[in-house]
Amino acid sequence: MKKEFFDSCAEKWGSPNEEKLELIKQNILPLLELKKGERVLDACCGTGVLIPLLKDAGAKITGIDYSEKMIEKAEERYGESARFIAGNVEDIPFKNESFDKIIMHNSFPHIDGKKKMFAQCYRTLKSGGIFLISHDMSRKDTDEHHKKCHHSVSSDMLPSNKEITLFAASSGFETIEILDEESFFAIVCRK
Ligand SMILES: C[S@@+](CC[C@H](N)C(=O)[O-])C[C@H]1O[C@@H](n2cnc3c(N)ncnc32)[C@H](O)[C@@H]1O
Repeated sequence: MKKEFFDSCAEKWGSPNEEKLELIKQNILPLLELKKGERVLDACCGTGVLIPLLKDAGAKITGIDYSEKMIEKAEERYGESARFIAGNVEDIPFKNESFDKIIMHNSFPHIDGKKKMFAQCYRTLKSGGIFLISHDMSRKDTDEHHKKCHHSVSSDMLPSNKEITLFAASSGFETIEILDEESFFAIVCRK
């Protein structure tokens, strides 16, 4: 049901406006501490809105999304800059320690199996790697935004900080930092 909804969005899925792009560049991407040549998984990549920014930072990018339609669009737009795969982040089809960094942008509330997803991100991250969950709105605005969306995603709310910490810590993450700012929300998990 939810996947079908995202499939139906793919054709018209827009890129962030200039203001959001600047916010992502200035406040969100630095949390990934990206170094040139690092392998980055864009988890729930959609049509690949983050790809140009990650490419500019010199990353080797893989995008994964369970919506084949989103992946088709991502291939069309950014196939030369990244490799894309249709797949579920609850069962990531890559070997242990494949990535230096993982970013999941504007997607976390939509993941049904959050515990499985955290465990998979932990497994596929290298030791010392960072898993960043980000939203280009505050916690409150993210939840309000989803309440107004299509009924298949309108009850997808961010978990409490306590629940988030429990998910991440029980998967093995060493440190978990939650940033609940006015203009963005981020969870930085370090393996
Ligand atoms: C709101 S969109 C955000 C897409 C992109 N990150 C962006 O910022 O434009 C959420 C994405 O999460 C994907 N998604 C949701 N649950 C997923 C899962 N379990 N595995 C893989 N992708 C998933 C959807 O298909 C959709 O493309």
